[in-house]
Amino acid sequence: SATGLQDRFARRFGYLRLSLTEVCNFRCSYCLPDGYRPADGKRPGFLGRDELLRVARAFVALGTTKIRLTGGEPSLRRDLTEIIADLAALPQAPRLALTTNGYRLQAQAAAWRQAGLAQLNVSIDSLDPREFALITGDSRLPQILDGLEAAWAAGFGTIKVNTVLLKGLNDHALGNFLAWIRDKPIQLRFIELMQTGQRQAYFDRHHLDGTALLASLLNQGWQPVPRGVDDGPAQVLRHPDYVGELGFILPYSPDFCASCNRLRVSASGQLHLCLFGDGGIDLRDLLQADAQQADLMRRLQQALQHKARAHRLHQGNAGVREHLASIGG
Ligand code: GTP
Ligand code: 5AD
Ligand code: SF4
Repeated sequence: SATGLQDRFARRFGYLRLSLTEVCNFRCSYCLPDGYRPADGKRPGFLGRDELLRVARAFVALGTTKIRLTGGEPSLRRDLTEIIADLAALPQAPRLALTTNGYRLQAQAAAWRQAGLAQLNVSIDSLDPREFALITGDSRLPQILDGLEAAWAAGFGTIKVNTVLLKGLNDHALGNFLAWIRDKPIQLRFIELMQTGQRQAYFDRHHLDGTALLASLLNQGWQPVPRGVDDGPAQVLRHPDYVGELGFILPYSPDFCASCNRLRVSASGQLHLCLFGDGGIDLRDLLQADAQQADLMRRLQQALQHKARAHRLHQGNAGVREHLASIGG
């Protein structure tokens, strides 16, 4: 099949992050502190099941082996389970993953698993319900934690938990997080806060340098796991006394983009070559009929020739993303 998707820097892109909606029901203080607001006062139309399937089919035909469903909050789509089943039924079905705030996890984990979902990433920024509510605007931490149990019961293996490092908000509780993963199949990933357009003052107040935390854990018996060729951006650590693993996602570290292996499609059908630094290439006009697949594949391959070597987070252009909910992180 695969001519493959490859850029000018010989990076190969076998991984698509497909956003299903920009809508979110949480109000994470670093992302959507006032909750989701449609851009121009009315809801944009998000890609329908048939359009999503055409996106996926074209990427798979170009060698994509993994699709992660993102948002906003993807589980707010009433048809999420059907979308998972659609993608799982593709010939050469890609590995399917979902990033969620966990809000529907308890109720839906078994159905998603049944439909063909292979991997779950759940965002949990605090293990203290009061603090969790302060950070996310949501009071359902206990139900989200029960949701993890439901997911394991449904057959999900190691679950990745995302924790954004926030100075003054959750950095005092790192010991609690470590104790939590001692006996659980969790890969707990500390994510360094990324600057976004709407949250610049917030960034200055709460940004925490993850490199320092990584160094201190390496001094406490945590050992780096060598990165595999197809691995994501997280640097993974293991400890002989822990079932769980740690991961560090440090977008400000110098080589972060060298291993980039992913492309993004927004909920309205824009191809984004990078989380930061590009405005998006519309695909939707080529998602209207199956017969357009060859044109769609050509557009993807051509677009990729413009992918930059690295994001420009360091160069003061963070403002190109108002928040990460618009592009699925
Ligand atoms: P897997 O490797 O499939 O587990 O994906 P992931 O860990 O990248 O997925 P997830 O959706 O859990 O994202 C975790 C964090 O990594 C989020 O804050 C994302 O915004 C961030 N992230 C993922 N990909 C990139 C990237 O290409 N660039 C940057 N700067 N951040 C990224
Ligand atoms: N910086 C770092 N991580 C972020 N996320 C959302 N916005 C930001 C940001 N500005 C994270 C969420 C979730 C993942 C999809 O992206 O916490 O875990
Ligand atoms: Fe919603 Fe995720 Fe943004 Fe939180 S970080 S507001 S859960 S999209």
